[in-house]
Amino acid sequence: MKVSVRVPATTANLGPGFDCLGIALPIYNEITVEETVMPGSGVEINILEDNENFDVLSIPKDENNIAYKAIELLYNFIGQTASDLKITIKTNIPVTRGLGSSASVIVGGLMAANHLLGNPADDAVLLSIASEVEGHPDNVTPAMFGGFCLSSMESDGSVIYSKISWPQEWKFTLLIPDYELDTNIARSVLPECISVKDAAFNIRKCAMLIDAVNKKDAELMKKCLQDKIHQPYREKLVKGFKELKEFFENKEDILGCVISGAGPTILVISCNNGFEKIKDDVRNIFNDLNVNCDIRTLNIENEGSIVV
Ligand code: HSE
Repeated sequence: MKVSVRVPATTANLGPGFDCLGIALPIYNEITVEETVMPGSGVEINILEDNENFDVLSIPKDENNIAYKAIELLYNFIGQTASDLKITIKTNIPVTRGLGSSASVIVGGLMAANHLLGNPADDAVLLSIASEVEGHPDNVTPAMFGGFCLSSMESDGSVIYSKISWPQEWKFTLLIPDYELDTNIARSVLPECISVKDAAFNIRKCAMLIDAVNKKDAELMKKCLQDKIHQPYREKLVKGFKELKEFFENKEDILGCVISGAGPTILVISCNNGFEKIKDDVRNIFNDLNVNCDIRTLNIENEGSIVV
């Protein structure tokens, strides 16, 4: 028997909501888990590229694969050992670009294995295991449930989360560059400590951001996407971010621009198809920086992961 799960891409942080806010986007990976017929054959991991996603070569194909690590924890949870499994990852989500490709394979592997085992774990257990493997819950939560999610990993490892309705007319444009940025590197440039002043800045922006979303208030949202906890430190790793942030200021129907997750993709939020009006200017900025960039405008994905 084999089970396949389709999992959306995700963008995390949204500026001030570091390690807390995340949104699902309609680009999908499909993860298939099957028990192999031959006992003792161990784990087999296959990566299939749906797109010209050449950097998938860097994905481990042994026990170090994060999907396998997550599945192992699930088996441990039910008092069993994961041994003879075949995992197939059909990738469409760009890898190491800040679009939740690792979260997608963790969530997909877990949900498929859970289904294969007769669903012994509930969503809370799966979310907790996924967050433990990923290290933070902001990508895995919307990857599982879709939509705009707030999440918090508690000290006992459990995750509390809320899904909040996102204004359908607010769209996301992904500026996906042709270079990779490892999340570990993007996290290593963050300081150990930040000032109370910077923490207070992010707390108020994040709180107001939720209010702006709830009220569908675009003018308020424009004032809420700033951050002082991670982007100022990561700016040097994300080509064009500084220039684009300045360029987008006070542009009609552009709500703001943030680093998607740990980068290097830049996320632009707009309404009334505002991005289309300035698309050519954005291309010129990337051309001047000698960076090739794939530009995609998407709506929010509200379904989350599903068994296919
Ligand atoms: N919140 C995480 C970060 C997302 O910014 O490092 C990347 O996985």
